[in-house]
Amino acid sequence: MSTRLDGKVALITGAARGQGRSHALRLAQEGADIIAVDICDQISTVNYPMSTPADLDETTKAVEALDRRIVAKIADVRSRDALQAAIDAGVNEFGRLDIVVANAGVSPLGADAPSVAWLNTVAVNLGGIINTLELSLPHLKSGASIVCIGSMAAFMGSLESAEAGPGAAGYGHSKRAVARLVNDLARNLAPKGIRVNAVHPGNVDTTMVHNDEIYRLFRPDLDNPTYDDAKDVFAAFHGLPVDLIAPEDISDAVAFLASDASRYVTGLQMRVEAGALLKSVPPGVPD
Ligand SMILES: NC(=O)c1ccc[n+]([C@@H]2O[C@H](COP(=O)([O-])OP(=O)(O)OC[C@H]3O[C@@H](n4cnc5c(N)ncnc54)[C@H](O)[C@@H]3O)[C@@H](O)[C@H]2O)c1
Repeated sequence: MSTRLDGKVALITGAARGQGRSHALRLAQEGADIIAVDICDQISTVNYPMSTPADLDETTKAVEALDRRIVAKIADVRSRDALQAAIDAGVNEFGRLDIVVANAGVSPLGADAPSVAWLNTVAVNLGGIINTLELSLPHLKSGASIVCIGSMAAFMGSLESAEAGPGAAGYGHSKRAVARLVNDLARNLAPKGIRVNAVHPGNVDTTMVHNDEIYRLFRPDLDNPTYDDAKDVFAAFHGLPVDLIAPEDISDAVAFLASDASRYVTGLQMRVEAGALLKSVPPGVPD
């Protein structure tokens, strides 16, 4: 495994499980020490199980098994005080911060969600990223790399519908805003030598999409659909023949953007969406 992140320290939000854990392990494998943050609790408007303290412990043990150091803290990215305390604890321990992966997110899809799900979703997916970046920035020096996790949903208005509900609408709003934030913040931080990029996944194999609510949304014709019933719908989003992308495939992109291998890449909207957006003319491609 490469050691291109040796001596670096990476903050990762939403690191208890799913893609966040995969990013933590990948960056640790490449030599980074990790500051891991996760809410490890349920948000009432989120209609699938969120992470637990045991999940964050598992991430901690897995990073330590790679002989890397980790400071893991339970914190809600909506709480600036909790996030500040977590970042302070990590920077005090490791003495620096080089990489920020703003990954924490929620996606409460479904017509039954209350209207406030729109706001909760935006508060986590956009507000949480703003908090994470604002509190990290004082520690970042020239050469630092920020990676924000967006979604193919940023570029697909069609994901929003009455059936998908207010959580889906908030999800689309927040991810579009993240894409724009990355562009504009990258322009602002470029003179300081700090890079800001986005990774936009397609459907990824995590609890966020592996849950009964999504199966029901994708197969409204069935009473109790399973993943197998919904599999073809997941695949239909993508151009390449794959139903769910592995978290490790997203981590490959994150590790590239975190490392100096991408030292002249900033403001990039990097789609790891198995060609989902090729069905129309994707953003950034001349008509
Ligand atoms: N799974 C997909 O298909 C998919 C597709 C596109 C984009 N994404 C994005 O990828 C990112 C990671 O999602 P995932 O697929 O690993 O899902 P996941 O639900 O497995 O992981 C998300 C993690 O974020 C944490 N989290 C949520 N709200 C938080 C908060 N307020 N404060 C701190 N932590 C919080 C959760 O507890 C969980 O551990 C999200 O930003 C998501 O929107 C996911």
